[in-house]
Amino acid sequence: MAQNSWNTALYEEQHAFVWQYGESLLELLVPKAGERILDLGCGTGQLTGKIAESGAFVQGIDSSLSMISTAKVNYPHINFAVADARDFQVEQPLDAVFSNAVLHWIKQPDAAIDCVEKALSPGGRFVAEFGGKGNVGAIARTLLSVLSEIGLGEPQSLNPWYFPSVGEYAGLLENHGFDVVYAVLFDRPTPLAGGSAGMVNWIEMFAGEFLSGLSPEVRSHVIKQVEERLRSALYRDGNWSADYRRIRVVAVNK
Ligand code: BEZ
Repeated sequence: MAQNSWNTALYEEQHAFVWQYGESLLELLVPKAGERILDLGCGTGQLTGKIAESGAFVQGIDSSLSMISTAKVNYPHINFAVADARDFQVEQPLDAVFSNAVLHWIKQPDAAIDCVEKALSPGGRFVAEFGGKGNVGAIARTLLSVLSEIGLGEPQSLNPWYFPSVGEYAGLLENHGFDVVYAVLFDRPTPLAGGSAGMVNWIEMFAGEFLSGLSPEVRSHVIKQVEERLRSALYRDGNWSADYRRIRVVAVNK
């Protein structure tokens, strides 16, 4: 996964919406007592904790050591481990793999889907939500144009995100033998915490890779420019929102 050194305190304090919106994804998972479930990209473990409340045996994995360390402190009774979504194995076949707000960081989706398929028992389900085609479109376009204007060649090559269409992702799942039983793309304008600092905080937390290699002065110039240009579209009454657009899929392993 692209981002391995998260500031988990800031993540939990300012970006709790990541798992708060994910709670409704649990309604598609419907975890049951005794099921074996993997939370793929569990972050600091909040949704893993919710799954455990159902009585399922749940394990959380994440590529970030800092996320896993915090998850273990938050939920000491749950099994968490550092692992890469593109290269993980499980000891026993699973009833379900659940993933919220992570697969948009995986630019090799086939590798992740392959691991999920191998981890599931026949009939096992894959329930996922992540950024879909057009996600954070205004933010990404603005970042790319400011970076081009300052003469950064090929800023698109720094783009760490994968936002597929429903058709593209469903096709990948079908190529791996899944039955896609539910797939939807929808807009979710998402209020950002932090009042007037909300967009700067979001860019620092989630879009840092676009800015890697820039001096602190240039970095701060870019962020200010992006913030200014987005203001008319995404700032209202002292608060910022992000133009999120999500994919949700449920796929069954044959
Ligand atoms: C998202 O959750 O949609 C997202 C997160 C980080 C960067 C871009 C999008």
